[in-house]
Amino acid sequence: MKENHYDNPEFFEKYSQMNRSTQGLQGAGEWQTLEKLLPAFEDKTVLDLGCGYGWHCIYAAEHGAKAVVGVDLSEKMLAVARSKTHFANVRYEQNSIEEADFPENTFDVVLSSLAFHYVENFAAVAKNVHRYLKPGGEFIFSVEHPIFTAYGTQDWYYDETGKILHFPVDNYFYEGQRTANFLGEDITKFHKTLTTYLDGLLTNGFQIERLVEPMPPEDMLTVPGMQDEMRRPMMLIVKAVNQ
Ligand SMILES: C[S@@+](CC[C@H](N)C(=O)[O-])C[C@H]1O[C@@H](n2cnc3c(N)ncnc32)[C@H](O)[C@@H]1O
Repeated sequence: MKENHYDNPEFFEKYSQMNRSTQGLQGAGEWQTLEKLLPAFEDKTVLDLGCGYGWHCIYAAEHGAKAVVGVDLSEKMLAVARSKTHFANVRYEQNSIEEADFPENTFDVVLSSLAFHYVENFAAVAKNVHRYLKPGGEFIFSVEHPIFTAYGTQDWYYDETGKILHFPVDNYFYEGQRTANFLGEDITKFHKTLTTYLDGLLTNGFQIERLVEPMPPEDMLTVPGMQDEMRRPMMLIVKAVNQ
């Protein structure tokens, strides 16, 4: 199985202190935007790729989903997900997004929140999701924005007093592995262009319904660092329909 930084004890500990870990969906800056794009879950079969603590799986179950599967590589993330989930119709599977496999036409909805920037080949993911989504099924995902992943370090440039100058964007068309500093650790991510995400959907049987670059919500602008999120996009959210 692939290596996963989320099972590194130091990184896992730092991740567990983030707002999105302690407060759940309400602590995630993009949630207010993402929630508006989600379909009605009543009686739906749902898959969450890179489910982490399982917040989105729990949300789907709370909103009437018939069956939910959460896939994640990390044993530690899944242990938290299992401890937080009190729905018998939610099951978790330790597997990679790349290797997870389901029969054709299994799901009504496939979700993924902030996991595809850990995957090198998005077209392969789109092809798989197309196969195991039912016709007319919905694919909604958030991912780190190509502007955010292009240079690699994912840190600002600062002046000598420590004031932010700007955010570096470089090597945009050179897709592939990057080493980002996330929570003080070196983390491997995979930069992909906007074309790769959007064309990967369009050439693998999807119609794009919505595209959003979420901004921090007004009521979170007082959270330290959040105001700076107005300076460049950090995420991309896409809603696509399986044709
Ligand atoms: C930023 S967290 C997001 C977790 C959750 N989706 C959320 O929004 O709260 C990224 C998750 O993706 C998982 N992950 C990273 N690479 C993966 C891969 N190749 N296959 C499956 N899961 C992966 C990590 O273990 C981690 O739980």
